[in-house]
Amino acid sequence: MSKDATIGRIAPSEITPRRLFDNRRAILRAGAAGLAYAPLGLGGIGSALAAAGGDGTKLTAARSALSTMERPTTYADATSYNNFYEFGTDKADPARYAHTLKIRPWTVSVEGEVNRPKVFDIDELLRLAPLEERIYRLRCVEGWSMVIPWVGYSFAEIIRRVEPRGNAKFVEFTTLADARQMPGLSSEVLQWPYVEGLRIDEASHRLTLLALGVYGETLPRQNGAPVRIVVPWKYGFKSAKSIVRIRFVEQQPITSWNRTAPYEYGFYSNVNPEVDHPRWSQARERRIGEDGFLQNRRKTLMFNGYGAEVAALYGGMDLRRQF
Ligand code: MTE
Repeated sequence: MSKDATIGRIAPSEITPRRLFDNRRAILRAGAAGLAYAPLGLGGIGSALAAAGGDGTKLTAARSALSTMERPTTYADATSYNNFYEFGTDKADPARYAHTLKIRPWTVSVEGEVNRPKVFDIDELLRLAPLEERIYRLRCVEGWSMVIPWVGYSFAEIIRRVEPRGNAKFVEFTTLADARQMPGLSSEVLQWPYVEGLRIDEASHRLTLLALGVYGETLPRQNGAPVRIVVPWKYGFKSAKSIVRIRFVEQQPITSWNRTAPYEYGFYSNVNPEVDHPRWSQARERRIGEDGFLQNRRKTLMFNGYGAEVAALYGGMDLRRQF
């Protein structure tokens, strides 16, 4: 696909270009610091531009009403402070090393307990449904958060097309695992491939996003190019990156973090300030970009603030036990 191709059906004026996110943010920071305007983060995490990136294809998308009104994190921060262990465990590793990820050609096999299994080409996914810009909070289990303008559509669009059978109770998402492209696979920090899973009603919820872009363009590699899932009311690790397989299954999938440390990471992993991680509190979070003297440790909200939308999914469950 050419660099300047535009995908989608809504007028380009309706998307928020990444420049605007960064400029607005830089002006605010500079103003608060009593400094002159500077084009990028003032010595923050994002002051060095990420080396990896994506193919830069612009995506046209209408702003979704499901978006938060909170101010987005800068593009520079969101693409240079990442968790993508396939490229290393340091936050800067994915931006540094993910340039080796080959994002085309790319297919996603949707299989398992469905009537219409299908291998989707990435170009087909980009055109499958109208793209929306969804600005979601992402809260990492480590205690930091960001606000990211994703581009994509509800994962329900895929579910509808493959027709799950009655016995499909869960959905399993699997990331690419190719040691030639992913230097982190030489580490035993996790067993590869990275696997995550959702109950089918969670996967069908309209907030669950199949993300194909951020900040008005296709996903940078470090953010999970070319396609990932985003589940805003769960800790970030539930949102698997660079997905190659989606399987509808009857049994609860064995997910990577649950397998590695079952006492620390349960299957559900809903953002819940009342359930501490065994090694730290989950009551508060640090918003990336608010470091230094602007740092403000915010209170973490139940379901990451999406309770009105999703609490009903967990009626009758003890979320302390099923964490
Ligand atoms: N997906 C894969 N394949 N590998 C990973 O290491 N890390 C998870 C999640 N998805 C991870 C992954 C974690 S811990 C978080 S917080 C988010 O990705 C981070 O997404 P971001 O870097 O785009 O902010």
